[in-house]
Amino acid sequence: MTNGAHWNRVYGDRDETDLTWFEEVPEPSLALIRAHAPAGAVVDIGGGASRLVDHLLADAYGPVVVLDLSETALAAARTRLGDRAGDAEWIVADVTGWSPDRHFDLWHDRAVFHFLTDAADRARYIAVMDAALGDGGIAVIGTFAQDGPERCSGLPVQRYSPEALDAEIESHAPGRFTLLESRRHVHVTPGGTRQNFQFSVFRKGA
Ligand SMILES: C[S@@+](CC[C@H](N)C(=O)[O-])C[C@H]1O[C@@H](n2cnc3c(N)ncnc32)[C@H](O)[C@@H]1O
Repeated sequence: MTNGAHWNRVYGDRDETDLTWFEEVPEPSLALIRAHAPAGAVVDIGGGASRLVDHLLADAYGPVVVLDLSETALAAARTRLGDRAGDAEWIVADVTGWSPDRHFDLWHDRAVFHFLTDAADRARYIAVMDAALGDGGIAVIGTFAQDGPERCSGLPVQRYSPEALDAEIESHAPGRFTLLESRRHVHVTPGGTRQNFQFSVFRKGA
C-alpha cells in the first residue's frame, strides 16, 4: 500500500520532466492502446502527470478518466493541458478502494500495479479492474520486468514477467482475463538510467 502524502511530496519536489518515469511520448502504451482499443472510454490508473491523457484526447478517445492517489500529480497534468483539462475527468483515489460508476473499454496502468506488494491489495486491484471493464474490454499493464529495478521512488516493488502477471491475475480472477500480447520495453530515465519493463495486454473474457 502506498499513500497520497508520499506521492504528493514526490511530485511537489520536482518538475514532471525530472521524475525517473517521465516520458515525452508514452510508448509503448500508445502503440498497444491504438492496436487493441482504437476508440472508447479510457481510465488511466495512477496516471499521475503522464502525457498519455494529452494523446488520448488528441485521438478523440472519450470519456477519458485519469485516476491517481496524488492530487499534486493531477494538478500538474491539468495545468499542462490548460483549457483541454476540462475534456478529461480527474479522480483522486486509491485504485484498490475505487468503485467505478461505469464500464470502460480500456484500463491503462504504467508502473502502478508493481507497487502493490501486498496480496490483498492486488486482489482488490484486480476486482476493481474486473468491475471497471465491460465484456471484451482491454487492460494494458506495464510493470518493472523481472530484471527491472527493485525499488522506485523509495518504495519496494514486485517485478513481473508477462507469464507471472498473467498468473497473478488468474489467481485472483480465474477465467476472467486472457493475455493477448506482451512486450519488453527499456525505459531510459531523464538521468540516463535504463529500466526494464514488461507491458502486457489482457482482454476481459475468454
Ligand atoms: C511511477 S508513477 C507512474 C505515473 C504514470 N503512470 C506515468 O507513467 O507517468 C506511479 C503513480 O501511481 C500513483 N499511485 C501509486 N499507488 C497508487 C494507488 N494505490 N492508487 C492510485 N494511484 C497510485 C502515484 O501517485 C504515481 O502517480
